[in-house]
Amino acid sequence: MRGALVFELNACRNNCVFCGSQRKVSDIPVLEMKRIERLALKHALELKNGGYDELEISGGDPVEYPRIAEFVRLLRGRLGFRSVQLSTHGCDLADPVLVDRLRSAGLTQYRIPFYGVTPKVHDAVTQRHGSFMETLRGIKNIRAQAPSSKIQITSLLMRQNCRQVLRILRLAAEYADEIVFSIPCIPDIKGPMKFALSFDELGSLARELLREAARIKRRVHILDVPFCAVGIFSPGLANKGGPPQLAPSYSVPDIFKTKTHGLPSYRVKRKVFQCGRCRVSGLCDGFYDSYLKIFDVAHFRPL
Ligand SMILES: C[S@@+](CC[C@H](N)C(=O)[O-])C[C@H]1O[C@@H](n2cnc3c(N)ncnc32)[C@H](O)[C@@H]1O
Ligand code: SF4
Repeated sequence: MRGALVFELNACRNNCVFCGSQRKVSDIPVLEMKRIERLALKHALELKNGGYDELEISGGDPVEYPRIAEFVRLLRGRLGFRSVQLSTHGCDLADPVLVDRLRSAGLTQYRIPFYGVTPKVHDAVTQRHGSFMETLRGIKNIRAQAPSSKIQITSLLMRQNCRQVLRILRLAAEYADEIVFSIPCIPDIKGPMKFALSFDELGSLARELLREAARIKRRVHILDVPFCAVGIFSPGLANKGGPPQLAPSYSVPDIFKTKTHGLPSYRVKRKVFQCGRCRVSGLCDGFYDSYLKIFDVAHFRPL
């Protein structure tokens, strides 16, 4: 069973338009760093004792944490996790020493996003010049230094990259063991209109991606776009399941809290009136509530 750990750095050198990371790792005092690692360890122990033997780590950018290799070693060694995945922008991974330290610590998988296939598009999303080339170099270096580490490449379908999604799929296919597209949630931090696409636009991008994936014979997973928005049922589409399995004592920030443990308000999904007559309703959680406040879906037909 797979559990999820949020490394509560809340810090990253990128500044993605949809993300709330607000500070730099270098600004975090040493004592706070120690507290963050102790908390992460506590959450990891809770998950292990709860029967989770695989762990995915996200939050800020965990690879920017200076002791990340030691932490991974602890998780794989003393705590006995069967696998550990790091979600990262990948910008630090052109460093062969770091990749080798993570490999020898027992890291099993990376999860890295491409938001475009050119610096212009990717860097417009991360709001940091140079980030695309760093990510690409990082991915190439993992392939060279740690070929046994798996790479999941992700992307988010957004206004900034909607003209490049097929090229993102083809670039990801060159390096990835698994390719996952999803859509940005709208946490209302920096203004949704900077990035969010309507479900009409998302549906048509999802159809194009599924066609291209079939053409290049690669499996693609597209998350969070309901079947009726795409107009077809496809095993490549997935929109079912609650929040990731977080430690019992982990708590989402107060402003986003909901009644469901680990589910922030901007990830709440809701069924619409069409769902009552849809044959695949049982396989679908509906639409992000935050999108429904902005975009009309009344014209979608149930499957
Ligand atoms: C929070 S980041 C942490 C790891 C790393 N810094 C990164 O960007 O991959 C983990 C993943 O969550 C995704 N993400 C961040 N904010 C999001 C949002 N508002 N909606 C959907 N996905 C989001 C990003 O695409 C990213 O790949
Ligand atoms: S790279 Fe990750 S943590 Fe950093 S700003 Fe982007 S989504 Fe947030």
